[in-house]
Amino acid sequence: MSNIKFLLWVLMVFNQTFAVSRDSDAPTVCKINQGSLNYPSPSIADGYTYQLLTDQLNRPRNLIFDTDGNLLVSGDPDGIFVLRIREVGHGCVMYDGKTLLEGTSGLNLNHGLALSRDGRTLFASSANIAYSWKYDPTTPSIDNSSRRNVVTGMDSDGHTTRTLLTSKLYSDVLLVSRGSNGNLDMDAKHLPKGKCMIKAFSHSKTEEQDFATQGNLLGWGLRNSVGIGEDSRGGIWAVENSADNLIRERINIHQNNPAEELNFLGPLKETAFREGYVAPNYGYPYCFAAWNPKDITPATYAIGVGDQFALVMNNSFTDSTCRDKFQAPRLSFQAHVAPLDIKFHPQTGHAWISFHGSWNRDAPVGYSLSVVEFQGSEPKAPKNSTNSAMNIMWNGNIAGCPSKCFRPVGIAFDSAGRVWVTSDSTGEIYIITPPQSSLSELPLSNGTRDTNSASNFSRRHSGAAPLIHGGVSLTKIIVGVAVICALLLGGRVPML
Ligand SMILES: *[C@@H]1O[C@H](CO)[C@@H](O)[C@H](O)[C@H]1NC(C)=O
Ligand SMILES: *[C@@H]1O[C@H](CO)[C@@H](O)[C@H](O)[C@H]1NC(C)=O
Ligand SMILES: *[C@@H]1O[C@H](CO)[C@@H](O)[C@H](O)[C@H]1NC(C)=O
Ligand SMILES: *[C@@H]1O[C@H](CO)[C@@H](O)[C@H](O)[C@H]1NC(C)=O
Ligand SMILES: *[C@@H]1O[C@H](CO)[C@@H](O)[C@H](O)[C@H]1NC(C)=O
Repeated sequence: MSNIKFLLWVLMVFNQTFAVSRDSDAPTVCKINQGSLNYPSPSIADGYTYQLLTDQLNRPRNLIFDTDGNLLVSGDPDGIFVLRIREVGHGCVMYDGKTLLEGTSGLNLNHGLALSRDGRTLFASSANIAYSWKYDPTTPSIDNSSRRNVVTGMDSDGHTTRTLLTSKLYSDVLLVSRGSNGNLDMDAKHLPKGKCMIKAFSHSKTEEQDFATQGNLLGWGLRNSVGIGEDSRGGIWAVENSADNLIRERINIHQNNPAEELNFLGPLKETAFREGYVAPNYGYPYCFAAWNPKDITPATYAIGVGDQFALVMNNSFTDSTCRDKFQAPRLSFQAHVAPLDIKFHPQTGHAWISFHGSWNRDAPVGYSLSVVEFQGSEPKAPKNSTNSAMNIMWNGNIAGCPSKCFRPVGIAFDSAGRVWVTSDSTGEIYIITPPQSSLSELPLSNGTRDTNSASNFSRRHSGAAPLIHGGVSLTKIIVGVAVICALLLGGRVPML
């Protein structure tokens, strides 16, 4: 081989090497901080970036990663979908379409979605039933013949989501949240009616369980706790969508009351697994939390933000009864922001909350993805805080809401610490990358975290956590140096 031929050959090998690595160092760089062109791009907090994965979905609600890194999405009336996605370098992810999980159609699976701790059982819910199937992440597929009704008897009009959550600490627990029928549901006063409560069920039982009469009660008097999450130490938290159009003592208080709520339901070992546990009542439909206490007048005690007041008072039931006999929220949020999900970041331990946004208020509020900072098993903010939720992603221009704007619902994390969120009204999924410093500086959660809870996604699809955009990979440098050395030494690299 002549020297010039050898040089050309080396260049060719060099080029091929690059072609191979092009998969992960691709020319495809996604647009950062730009949404779909259908409405003004959402705003993002300093140091964070986002990319739009797709705007081609049909009303996406909850999303979860399985143990192999596949992304599953609920909400589409046609069933549960697996999204075909791949890392293309620079932290960018491509969407290649969606595949229906065969066997999930025709069941009206409108919201709830969960996987067992081992990732081998899938749960999804209609308004009436929480189903389970054997799930195989390698295909990925469900075994339709394994379908079981785990919990039944939940049908009612009004609020029809039946949020599901599996515990990372206990393999055989399925939490189910059932809300009210309409704004003020008087059935919620009666425990046996099985409304407005969160219960824990054993999902390994082969016979189906009735929501109202079976399972272990974690809390009741919860109007519509659409989001449930388990913190890094096993505490269960729920976000409550409180009432609309409230009139109290002939004063219309609905613009700024009642507060939406963050409620603590305790760790399962002290609730579901404790013999004789008496679950607290969080007040609905008797008591509500104040967001603007000035509107709550006359009051029978000095009501502050987050304190409970009575909707209807008489001689034997007053605001003080609400304070003394019912469980107040741990934190309050602006009236009508509509929190729909709460998930604890596996690296930082902070709560990510999606606020779907208001309709029962003149000036729209919510429509944001926010973070409530935790320290150990407690929020950092005091109970009466009015600014505990920090906006991460929101609509700078809210004019198009509710139909043409970012309306976050479901939240999931990948192993790189990125945050994936659906927006149902716009058919979107966004991927948010927190600043590297926010992930490394904050303390890791303590002990109880199950490593399976963060998905394998970026490990499987890219090898390395693609948090840093751009840059030359180490592999590229090593290959380059090796080829140059070979060239200088006149050495021959065997032909493949
Ligand atoms: C799945 O199983 C259910 C219940 O066994 C059955 O009614 C349904 O027809 C099956 N669907 C498919 C697609 O096989
Ligand atoms: C007072 O209000 C409570 C709570 O709404 C109610 O259960 C009770 O029956 C009322 N008592 C009277 C005497 O109206
Ligand atoms: C919150 O409560 C503390 C005492 O518990 C009080 O000092 C403070 O003024 C309250 N803040 C608000 C905004 O009500
Ligand atoms: C983790 O939790 C245990 C028990 O709750 C405690 O003893 C230990 O000090 C904690 N470790 C850290 C690093 O916080
Ligand atoms: C990740 O994926 C591999 C195979 O793709 C699997 O063996 C493993 O259990 C998964 N989970 C974790 C947490 O690594």
